[in-house]
Amino acid sequence: MQRTPEAGLSRRDLLTAGAVTVAAGATARSAHAESPSEPVRAADLLTAEPSHMKVHFTVNGTARELELDTRTTLLDALREHLHLTGTKKGCDHGQCGACTVMVDGVRINSCLTLAVMHEGHAVTTIEGLGTPDNMHPMQAAFVRHDGYQCGYCTPGQICSSVAVLDEIKAGIPSHVTADLTAAPTLSVEELRERMSGNICRCGAYSNIVEAITDVAGSPA
Ligand code: FES
Ligand code: FES
Repeated sequence: MQRTPEAGLSRRDLLTAGAVTVAAGATARSAHAESPSEPVRAADLLTAEPSHMKVHFTVNGTARELELDTRTTLLDALREHLHLTGTKKGCDHGQCGACTVMVDGVRINSCLTLAVMHEGHAVTTIEGLGTPDNMHPMQAAFVRHDGYQCGYCTPGQICSSVAVLDEIKAGIPSHVTADLTAAPTLSVEELRERMSGNICRCGAYSNIVEAITDVAGSPA
């Protein structure tokens, strides 16, 4: 674990301290009113108890209730608490797309959102799209077109691909849509732009485009 040499604190310690700063700040402000010269000590921040909260949502059609540390990301709730490990953790910083899931039909990076923000929402992960015996058409197309090599990015790529076709069908333009008044077309350029948040270190991009195009029923 990385430690800051100056303070002797681990990165985890600093993150913990940052997360409790807001709550501790309120306490500190009221304490400050009584003793204005009393500084807030880092040790107090580090030992503050995390707060927990219940959240209810459906995951792949099943109602779930979890009591979580409010700092738990949706990704960690899925993987560590519900043991749905199909959704992958790549960067944990919103940069790779490996953690893509759908919330109420919209794709999101589950590492960038807190689980407790999804009260009442419907979450769909790769496990909810299909099974090895009964694959979703997009999963089957990825297999047919060799849309993966190591497979680590694949659950996120497939969730994103399903969402991309929905976005195009709904007429939502992208950064490369030339005519904002016309329905977007299913071009390779559109697909590459819309899938640009999903990184594949194995470089399976051209096969992924072929798989999506196959499902959409148009030649790439
Ligand atoms: Fe969420 Fe990389 S793990 S974007
Ligand atoms: Fe290996 Fe995409 S298949 S990272």
